[in-house]
Amino acid sequence: MGKVYVFVNQKGGVGKTTSAVNIGAYLAEEGKSVLLVDFDSQANLSSGMGIRPLKPGVYELISGSAPIDKTLRSTALATLKVIPARIDLSGAAVELIEQQDRDFFLT
Ligand SMILES: Nc1ncnc2c1ncn2[C@@H]1O[C@H](COP(=O)(O)OP(=O)(O)OP(=O)(O)O)[C@@H](O)[C@H]1O
Ligand SMILES: [Mg+2]
Repeated sequence: MGKVYVFVNQKGGVGKTTSAVNIGAYLAEEGKSVLLVDFDSQANLSSGMGIRPLKPGVYELISGSAPIDKTLRSTALATLKVIPARIDLSGAAVELIEQQDRDFFLT
């Protein structure tokens, strides 16, 4: 099992996305296999990594409409992959409200 790093803070504009991209790229360059998963509907990590199209991405993954291999995107580094987000992710919190143990849905 790999390590999971989560960059989360309620305050905006404090460097969460920048830290995720740079630490992810650094670890990938060091030879680690890195998967960056964008869980922000602003999709700044996805656009910052130059990912196009953004769909299917993490929303399709958690809603069950796409398997993980369809959501993975390659980057310039063979060891760095991205699962992008899109604006539709903003609806996921509401849509998952009926889901049992929704806070642990991805674990
Ligand atoms: N270590 C740093 N030193 C200086 N500026 C930084 C640093 N990290 C990030 N920034 C700048 O701060 C701004 C906000 O960074 P970033 O978008 O990563 O924050 P965020 O926490 O992801 O924001 P949001 O809450 O909107 O998702 C950007 O302009 C970024 O270039
Ligand atoms: Mg951000």
